[in-house]
Amino acid sequence: MQNLDWSQLPFGYLKTDYNIRCYYRDGKWGELEVSSSEYINLHISATALHYGQQAFEGMKAYRGKDNKIRLFRWEENFKRMQRSADGILMQPITKELFKDAITKAVLINERFVPPHGTGAALYLRPLLIGSGPQIGVKPAEEYLFMVFTTPVGPYFKEGFTPIKIAVVRDSDRAAPLGTGSIKVGGNYASSLTGAKKAHDEGYGAPMYLDSIHKKYIDEIGAANFFGIKNNTYITPKSPSILPSITNMSIMQLAEDLGLKVERRPIDIEELETFEEVGACGTAAIISPIGEIYDIDKDKKYNFCKDGKAGLISTQIYEKLVAIQYGDETDPHNWVEIIK
Ligand code: PLP
Ligand code: COI
Repeated sequence: MQNLDWSQLPFGYLKTDYNIRCYYRDGKWGELEVSSSEYINLHISATALHYGQQAFEGMKAYRGKDNKIRLFRWEENFKRMQRSADGILMQPITKELFKDAITKAVLINERFVPPHGTGAALYLRPLLIGSGPQIGVKPAEEYLFMVFTTPVGPYFKEGFTPIKIAVVRDSDRAAPLGTGSIKVGGNYASSLTGAKKAHDEGYGAPMYLDSIHKKYIDEIGAANFFGIKNNTYITPKSPSILPSITNMSIMQLAEDLGLKVERRPIDIEELETFEEVGACGTAAIISPIGEIYDIDKDKKYNFCKDGKAGLISTQIYEKLVAIQYGDETDPHNWVEIIK
């Protein structure tokens, strides 16, 4: 792709050449199909449209210096999609189908995988929806699994410079026994008002607190939260947050760097004691946080006083990205070259 300014790409949708589709009908999954259309033909009464039977994943394909294309921990995305399917009673896909579909989606859109060194990647969006009709509230009998791709830059326009977050207390993204720990569209619908509130206040993303006590940190928009102090990496343990594959990887990298790792409830008041805080996820990678504003309490927590990310966040970020792009060895076997 000659005309794309790869290093300026936003985190947005850009049409690529093809997408992959596979239908579950009559009790079995069919063959993978390649489509050049951005549209799907869907029954007006499909459960995805009415009762929220849909789940998605977000992952990236990275081009290395050697020009080879790498996937990062795709099996974890597969496992999470299985849990999402189980959580809202959708027909799960098989591991083989998932692997074939993501691999094919990258290879047939290869010209959209950004060049190494631009900070961009090809984002993959696997999507599973209830496509069969129901009017009573029950699971569909037919499903559609798709994978489309789009080249992306960083989720936060700041890239690896500190972002500003606002705490929202008057809406909840998820409930403890709800669907917060799986990746289904309904969670994102219920996060929109909180995100709007944060944006309206001039902040980049909302921080959600646990919905029972409004006391413990849950998540930052579409990313997990972490804090660092006393040589310890601390990230929330909560039944209503999405277990982030990026966070899981960072916990390992923090341990490799000699940090202690704790997963436990984090009281919002503890924010005062952190030396570094950040948000992490596939889209967000690692985004250092410079300010957290608790709107209702009119209280500000400030970090990165020199306007730069902290030392440990920077070390972890550099290590993670180097592994993803194949610039450094991959000690935990997280990366798979696509052929
Ligand atoms: N939390 C939410 C709500 C998300 O949507 C995402 C993105 O997938 C994450 C956290 C980060 O998860 P991961 O690192 O697996 O992309
Ligand atoms: C991701 O990090 O892949 C996400 O899913 C974030 C997204 C919802 C934009």
